[in-house]
Amino acid sequence: MRSLLFVPADSERKIEKAMASAADVVILDLEDSVAPQNKPAARALAADTLKTPRSGPQVYVRVNALDTGLTPDDLTVVLPAGPDGLVQPKTETGACVEKLAELAGTDIPVIAIATETATAMFGLGTYSGVAGNLQGMAWGAEDLSNELGAQANRDTDGILTEPYRLARSLCLFGARAAAVDPVDTVYVDFRDSAGLERNCMEAVRDGFSCKMAIHPAQVEIINRVFTPSKEQIAEARNIIEAFAEAGNAGVVGIGGKMYDIPHLNRSRKLLERATAYGVA
Ligand code: COA
Ligand code: MG
Repeated sequence: MRSLLFVPADSERKIEKAMASAADVVILDLEDSVAPQNKPAARALAADTLKTPRSGPQVYVRVNALDTGLTPDDLTVVLPAGPDGLVQPKTETGACVEKLAELAGTDIPVIAIATETATAMFGLGTYSGVAGNLQGMAWGAEDLSNELGAQANRDTDGILTEPYRLARSLCLFGARAAAVDPVDTVYVDFRDSAGLERNCMEAVRDGFSCKMAIHPAQVEIINRVFTPSKEQIAEARNIIEAFAEAGNAGVVGIGGKMYDIPHLNRSRKLLERATAYGVA
């Protein structure tokens, strides 16, 4: 999974476009992109979409946060239609994910958006070993900046300010500590493809395994950057081969550079991803 495209679940037109996109996952949103009075219609359209025979993207549903009281109705309508997974907003600790699993009563995969409140920032180390089927942890800067009363979450050069860099880093640490996918947040400036590409490269560099999108035009860029390149695949193969040739060595030198076991493991993981995306 590389790209996860959000679509407001009350928009038939956008759902149709999203389902025809190359996104690995389409997230039918019942939460903040749907006005309160449209929630019932959005649930019904989400269920219809799920029931329609489909190929292409997997389909997840973002339910409303537990404290809204809307989650049980969301689940009652969408779960019988068989979503591939759920996205849970505004989680504050691993216990929130357990609560959703309990309400859902199945072991459906869940991606938690785990940095949307001030309290959530102190819970990012609590997702390890939670009951249920936590698949990923995502971070977000929009709800968090709203909650903090911030005027902006980026400086005049477009660089994330300190509180949101911290949220991003702690989400990455928390997800890897819990052995689930770290999911990078949306890039809201959907006409800025060069900015998105840079943003994706930074996410891949730092260890995120996939990224959420808000516009179909973002999908191709995300898929490309999150797919290992030919050069990366060749380098990984070189490293694996050098270790194989060296027998039981824990360390090898290639082209004047040291490579040890973490490099070997990283190369194996990269080849696994390349195989999964059909480029190895
Ligand atoms: N999924 C599917 N189709 C989408 C889409 C999405 N997320 N975003 C836009 N489109 C469609 C539009 O409907 C439009 O189709 P049309 O020409 O057939 O009408 C086409 O892509 C081009 O859209 P564009 O004019 O560039 O953008 P817009 O002004 O219509 O929409 C947003 C901008 C931000 C409102 C829209 O991208 C959106 O709704 N994004 C998702 C928001 C969301 O889910 N947020 C919650 C998570 S943060
Ligand atoms: Mg939000």
